[in-house]
Amino acid sequence: MIKQEDINTLRNKKIETQSLFIGNKQIPAQSEETIEVTSPIDGKFLTTIANANENDVDIAVTTARKSFESGSWSKAAPQERKKILNKFAELIEKNTIELAVLGVRDNGTEINMAIMAEPSSAAGCIRYYAETIDKMYGEIAPTSENILGLIHREPIGVIGAIIPWNFPLMIASWKFAPALSAGNSVVIKPAESASLSLLRIAELAAEAGIPDGVFNVITGDGEITGKALAMHMDVDVIAFTGSGVVGRKILEYSARSNLKRVYLELGGKSPNIVFADTQDIDKAVTQSLGGIFRNSGQVCVAGSRLIIEEAIADEFTDKLINESKKLIVGDPLDITSNIGAIASQDQLTKNLSYVKSAMAEGALLKSGGKQINQELGGFYMEPTVFSNINSDMQIAQEEVFGPVLSILTCKDEAEAVKIANATVYGLAAAVWTADLSKAHRMVRSIRAGVVHVNCYGGADLTVPLGGVKQSGNGHDRSLHAIEKYTDLKTAWISL
Ligand code: NAI
Ligand code: MG
Repeated sequence: MIKQEDINTLRNKKIETQSLFIGNKQIPAQSEETIEVTSPIDGKFLTTIANANENDVDIAVTTARKSFESGSWSKAAPQERKKILNKFAELIEKNTIELAVLGVRDNGTEINMAIMAEPSSAAGCIRYYAETIDKMYGEIAPTSENILGLIHREPIGVIGAIIPWNFPLMIASWKFAPALSAGNSVVIKPAESASLSLLRIAELAAEAGIPDGVFNVITGDGEITGKALAMHMDVDVIAFTGSGVVGRKILEYSARSNLKRVYLELGGKSPNIVFADTQDIDKAVTQSLGGIFRNSGQVCVAGSRLIIEEAIADEFTDKLINESKKLIVGDPLDITSNIGAIASQDQLTKNLSYVKSAMAEGALLKSGGKQINQELGGFYMEPTVFSNINSDMQIAQEEVFGPVLSILTCKDEAEAVKIANATVYGLAAAVWTADLSKAHRMVRSIRAGVVHVNCYGGADLTVPLGGVKQSGNGHDRSLHAIEKYTDLKTAWISL
């Protein structure tokens, strides 16, 4: 059980001016430029982070490359890497509350969720991949008698990870944990508005014994630091989570530089379909609310389009709105809040502009829609529900990435599929029904990386997460993620 006192003792702790973390130490940026970090909790100055320029990025990448070539990690015995990664996970767990509070002061996620989804899940992810290290075998090809065909799996080299602000530790670990387990060196670029917890775990990585230069964190502007990393000639892979706009740019940077591999996780406009035969309507209401409003809707798999079968649409909508009014939006470091702050002023402004444009399009505002808690000085917004939505409206097509739910209705299964697939995205979906055959038909018909049935969310490390269509490519989590950070090499041996 987390105690409010433990959180309170950390909430005002001074945060030193931050440097870059390269070669297992903090080094100031050559650029001598900084970015001010504002806490979304109260809108106040928190600290400054370095704004790394091309030169700084080059130092980080060169350091990572040197460590890779040295073999200190890439050629270390699997058991040794496993031991160190497990130690890294242990250190993160030991510092769970400190890391969670630091992250919340940076990005506003409600603390109960932050503890679970950030340090705890990052530690779990590191352990999961640490366990794979000494269990991944090469292959022997089914060749003719006079040939021995061996297929080796090798680390690739320097992996760049560009991370968003919604769940920095969790999303970064989905990338660096399989990358490190395979023997690569990594350079991580967190988001401007959520760098602090990743800078902190870099120290823990060093403390755990990850060799010099294998785990580096560089901070700064996307357009400067992120771009320099993605343009770098000696980065082999960029693993990115964030917006489609930036995802496109990264593909371009790859094409303009060294054709590095690019893996993109770009969010969605995920459909959550409730059929009239749903058995547990109350569960569907609760999980539909969680699906859109947890972390203020700042979740890539958020169920932002609720599609209800007409027969139960009014009843379900009323119940959902009733329940949504019970959600407490407040100080994310208060353990009784259900929803914390919006990560930044920019994101809040973007959310509110979507509310305005949805109303202009003819959507019916059923609840919420406004900024609240202004007395706290931070960035807070009511859970917002719109009905009367047509699939071709902007509010039904674009990712808001905020606490804004669009309710649509469908006549039957066929129409549900049609609406579900009518966006450029394909990340997540959910179907609620008591009909087993219908559930399986829906799973097959919906174009998405994950289709939940009679639940929304909760998938764990054992299953891949990745999008289709403009939600991206490649998968985080599960053993499949290792494929992104390894190369296959054939040895064709004449006997
Ligand atoms: P963003 O896509 O701009 O930022 C994500 C990361 O990319 C950050 O580390 C940023 O510094 C970096 N970046 C930005 N421009 C770059 C460039 N030119 N080259 C290389 N790296 C660059 O996301 P932003 O602006 O923070 O949020 C905008 C929208 O993106 C959100 O409203 C949401 O719709 C979407 N988003 C989706 C996420 C997801 O989980 N799929 C996470 C965060 C944002
Ligand atoms: Mg941006």
